[in-house]
Amino acid sequence: MMKKVSISSPAFCQMCLSSWEQMEIFRDVAELREGIDRSKFSLGLVPTMGFLHHGHLSLIRTSKEQNKKTVVSIFVNPTQFNNSEDLDTYPRDLESDIALLVEEGVDFLFLPNTIQIYPEGFETEINTGSVGERLEGVHRPGHFNGVSTVVCKLLNMCAPEKVYFGQKDAQQCSVVMNMVRDLNIDVEVVVCPTVRDSDGLALSSRNIHLSEKERESALLINRALYHALNEWDKGQSDAAVLKNTVEQKILSNSLNKLEYISLANEMDFIEQAQAMPGSIISVAVVVGKTRLIDNVVLKWR
Ligand code: PAF
Repeated sequence: MMKKVSISSPAFCQMCLSSWEQMEIFRDVAELREGIDRSKFSLGLVPTMGFLHHGHLSLIRTSKEQNKKTVVSIFVNPTQFNNSEDLDTYPRDLESDIALLVEEGVDFLFLPNTIQIYPEGFETEINTGSVGERLEGVHRPGHFNGVSTVVCKLLNMCAPEKVYFGQKDAQQCSVVMNMVRDLNIDVEVVVCPTVRDSDGLALSSRNIHLSEKERESALLINRALYHALNEWDKGQSDAAVLKNTVEQKILSNSLNKLEYISLANEMDFIEQAQAMPGSIISVAVVVGKTRLIDNVVLKWR
């Protein structure tokens, strides 16, 4: 059963958790570095923006299987939001997040505030180059620079052996892998499969904003992607045909507005005319006011 932790203040939160379970909460970098003795165990990092769901839990469980200890970070990173309304309405529920992390047996929670991550005078930013300018980058300018900068900082702060991301954010995975390679960061990037609800909708913190009707409409996203996967399995390789079937299905409900549909190479997200094993079909769809992304990767057939 889920345990509930009440947090009325950071001090209380710290106190109740340390006396209650083994999960330690660090709110600043110095405490974190002192509290996690990196010489003693292998460490996995699961960076999150909170409002945790089973997608995050699958990353945590994989990290727990692969490392002696796991640190989860929760930080709603303002620099990756190109729209202030999206940042303001990003769902948050720290109390429930902490209860879930305790339940999962997470060892450490890093809970920095904005000043910890971006102190006064902060100026350095990672430029993710061309891969970060495609697809999501077109519609959310600067998004991946913000993601990469914060992920780089979290890696420097936590110094994990492995860091975990979900395949749902495929372009983010690729951008982070490029950054790790280009900046010689000593960490292994582990990408875990997309977790879906029983109706097929890819889990996302943003799903909470969907009304019943919008959710019904959003289900067309994964149905369309899996339909294309099926067409690929049956022999269709023409990218235009595959993209067209996805587009028609998604747009069959007028609540769905398609931001982009792409069939590209999974590594650099350069569009392809002919699908091949390893190609990825990605979409961004605005359902009502909620922006959702999803993708499928084509396998050998
Ligand atoms: O995927 C996310 O939740 C965020 O982009 C991340 C990786 C935690 C960086 O803020």
